[in-house]
Amino acid sequence: MILRGITSATLHHHRHRPLPPTSASFSVSDADLAGRGFTLHRDATSLDLARLNSIFVSVGFPRRDPEKIRLALDHSDALLWLHDSRSDLPVAFARATGDGVFNAIIWDVVVDPSFQGIGLGKAMVERLVDDLLRKGITNIALYSEPRVLGFYRPLGFVADPAGIRGMVYSRKNKNKRRN
Ligand SMILES: CC(C)(COP(=O)(O)OP(=O)(O)OC[C@H]1O[C@@H](n2cnc3c(N)ncnc32)[C@H](O)[C@@H]1OP(=O)(O)O)[C@@H](O)C(=O)NCCC(=O)NCCS
Repeated sequence: MILRGITSATLHHHRHRPLPPTSASFSVSDADLAGRGFTLHRDATSLDLARLNSIFVSVGFPRRDPEKIRLALDHSDALLWLHDSRSDLPVAFARATGDGVFNAIIWDVVVDPSFQGIGLGKAMVERLVDDLLRKGITNIALYSEPRVLGFYRPLGFVADPAGIRGMVYSRKNKNKRRN
C-alpha cells in the first residue's frame, strides 16, 4: 500500500522532474546557439502562442485555437523552442507527448521559413530526443511527410523498422466503409 503510494507520487511528478545532465554532443552547442542570438527554452510560459501559430501556418500546418495549443503544450512530455534575440520572436519549436515512461511521439517540429537551412531544426530534434532519453523514454516515434524523411534519417529515425507500419485512425475511411 505504502509502496504503491510512493510509486504513484513519483510517477505523477515525473513530467516535471529536472533532467539529469546530458552527455550528448550536439551538432550545434548551446553556446554556439547563444552566440548566434538564439536562446533555448524548455517550457512554454513565455512563448508567444500567436506567433507560434503563425509559424505553423507559414509551413502549411493548420491554424489552431491558441487555448487548445496551450493545453496541448501543458500535456506534452517535452518541448523546446528557440527565441531569436534580433527579432525578439520564437523561430523554432518541437515537442513530444507520451506516457512519460516508455513511449513518446514527436510533434510540431517547425522552423520559421526565414530561419530554415541553418541547422536549427537539427539542433531542436537532437535535443528533444536527448531530453526524452534522459527521462528514460526509449520508444520514440514520429510522423514524417515523405519530403522530410531525409531530415530525420541522419537524426537516427528509421521508417517501418522490422516491417512495422504505422496506422492512423481515419474517420473518412470508416465512414466510407459504413456507407
Ligand atoms: C523540416 C525542418 C524542421 C528542418 O529544419 P531546418 O532548420 O530547415 O533544417 P536544418 O538546417 O537543421 O537541417 C539539418 C540537416 O537536414 C537537412 N535537411 C533539412 N531539411 C531536409 C529535407 N526536407 N530533406 C532532407 N534533408 C533535409 C539539411 O540539409 C541539413 O543537412 P546537414 O546536417 O548535412 O547540413 C524545417 O525545414 C521545417 O520547419 N519545415 C516545415 C515543417 C515540417 O515539414 N516539419 C516536419 C513535420 S513532419
